[in-house]
Amino acid sequence: MSQRVLLTGGAGYIGSHTYVALIDAGYEVLILDNFGNASRQVPSRLKAVTGADVQVIEADVLDRAALDRIFAEHAIDAVIHFAAYKSVGESVRNPLAYMQNNVGGLVTLMQAMDAADIRRLVFSSSATVYGEAEQLPTPETAPLGYGNPYGHSKLICEQIIEETAAADPRWAVGVLRYFNPVGAHPSGLIGEDPSGVPDNLMPYVAKVAAGDLPMLSVFGDDYPTPDGTGVRDYIHVSDLAQGHVLSLKALERDGTGHVVNLGTGRGYSVLELIAAYARASNQHIPYKIAPRRPGDAASSYADPSLARTVLGFEPKYDLHDMCRTSWMWMQNAQTLPD
Ligand code: UD1
Repeated sequence: MSQRVLLTGGAGYIGSHTYVALIDAGYEVLILDNFGNASRQVPSRLKAVTGADVQVIEADVLDRAALDRIFAEHAIDAVIHFAAYKSVGESVRNPLAYMQNNVGGLVTLMQAMDAADIRRLVFSSSATVYGEAEQLPTPETAPLGYGNPYGHSKLICEQIIEETAAADPRWAVGVLRYFNPVGAHPSGLIGEDPSGVPDNLMPYVAKVAAGDLPMLSVFGDDYPTPDGTGVRDYIHVSDLAQGHVLSLKALERDGTGHVVNLGTGRGYSVLELIAAYARASNQHIPYKIAPRRPGDAASSYADPSLARTVLGFEPKYDLHDMCRTSWMWMQNAQTLPD
């Protein structure tokens, strides 16, 4: 019998791609989303991608009664928890909201799961828990830290998970530390929310390529990297989504949890990414060198070997694919309704 999985934040960027990967892998999937930060068009686009009806419940992870109802009415085997805030800048301005939503959301969810006797969970963590990583490539055993309330909230969540699993070994939790997710589903029907001015590099480059923004600022060219610009481990969102499927399977198989990096292990600089995007989109991408952005590390890339060993995780998409699918989505998103 197929396993039934609840995706909190399932209409968001990574959640929606994971939905498709789970359906492809034969899971039954239920989406929970409050649509605070996701388009209401996502369910119909997911239907177009998968060819099947999409089950969506509009609710908030902080709503314990709603969670209890869902677990009572649907035979859920496991939960993947995406629903969280993710903007570093916003977290500095409003740390309490980040703690309430990210930490409070996880605690509420795990309490409801425990009460319903469901203890298989995949959690969205971030390479941000390494703080300014001293070791490159960064293995899971590297020292942990944080530089802002968003990172702090993810670190607290990891600690809560570790303590809960230590107190009750029936819990099996997969903690996935994402590096830099980019790109879009090859269908061009889902991708990262294109509204507003993006904080992150690839969505910004996409808008410059499309002519929606005049120019990219490259934040610093005097880092100790080959060309002086920041180096990151970009990973295609469909590869990342597949990592969640593999994490679930490992939890089912092993009955115990894991903490793994999801990255490719390969770093690219800002200038390399701009060049790759210009090639994939066949557009000119004007940029200027600007001061460093406070809090940015020079380099960040994963040691991906544990994910390979524990999950059998092998990313398939390269930088060109990441840029090509992002560009396809960028062009499509302008013609799709919000
Ligand atoms: C950022 C967050 C990280 C979060 C992740 C979500 C910070 C310090 N870190 O990661 O906690 O988990 O987003 O995806 O905000 N850059 C430019 N010009 C731009 C934008 C970015 O040059 O307009 C550079 C940055 O300096 C960096 C690289 O591009 O070297 C990647 O930046 P970004 O996409 O924002 O990701 P991170 O900073 O790695």
